[in-house]
Amino acid sequence: MRRKLVAGNWKMNGNLAANSALLNELVAALGHAAPCDVAVCVPAPYLAQCQHQLADTVVSWGGQDLSAHEAGAYTGEVSATMLADFGSHYAVVGHSERRAMHGESNALVAQKTLRALRSGLIPIICVGETLAEREAGQTTEVVGEQLKAVLAVLEAADLTRLVVAYEPVWAIGTGKTATPAMAQEVHATLRALLAGQDAVAAAGTRILYGGSMKPDNARELMAMPDIDGGLIGGAALKSADFLAIIAASGAQ
Ligand code: PGA
Repeated sequence: MRRKLVAGNWKMNGNLAANSALLNELVAALGHAAPCDVAVCVPAPYLAQCQHQLADTVVSWGGQDLSAHEAGAYTGEVSATMLADFGSHYAVVGHSERRAMHGESNALVAQKTLRALRSGLIPIICVGETLAEREAGQTTEVVGEQLKAVLAVLEAADLTRLVVAYEPVWAIGTGKTATPAMAQEVHATLRALLAGQDAVAAAGTRILYGGSMKPDNARELMAMPDIDGGLIGGAALKSADFLAIIAASGAQ
């Protein structure tokens, strides 16, 4: 049985005061036992705040990206070891906004994944098709290529340490969600690809759904057999919504 994971992706939102209130509300409501693993992936400047406010709570934290390089003359980049230095547990890798706006290729996402794993972070590797790709019947091919590029650089043991997030690009921030059946179909495809590497490990790999997951659709999405939680954007910025999604993870 895979324990579900609900991870917030704050994107480029927040400030010290608002974060403090949000994190306090989460910690107060969750107490010592959450129905699933819970994390917030925050802008790098707020990692220290998370470390300070979330130490010894049930909420983990992480970054939203990391450099493919170890260290050196890469102005503006944040390394995996820096994320780890601030107690990060996770790093989102290959989010569609980075693929689209920063030109991140499948090969670069694979390098970043490796960097995260070798620094002890759990990468949350995002894959997903655009609307045009879905309408052209290319969903399986696109997400397959994205995942295969990562699997090509990993060792079998790494499979137990990574998280995959299926985020259809057309569902992100749009209010449009994949139906549970649509999402499940892609999740099953992704799990089959993972199983091609190592069937036992793949049975334990968590595959999250992301893209307008909200309190009113979280439960039915997470009830699907291969949907092991959510990567939550907009709804992670309001404690009531994020907490409702966390609660839905335990209501299967
Ligand atoms: P959304 O974003 O929940 O606001 O659609 C999800 C994501 O981009 O990770």
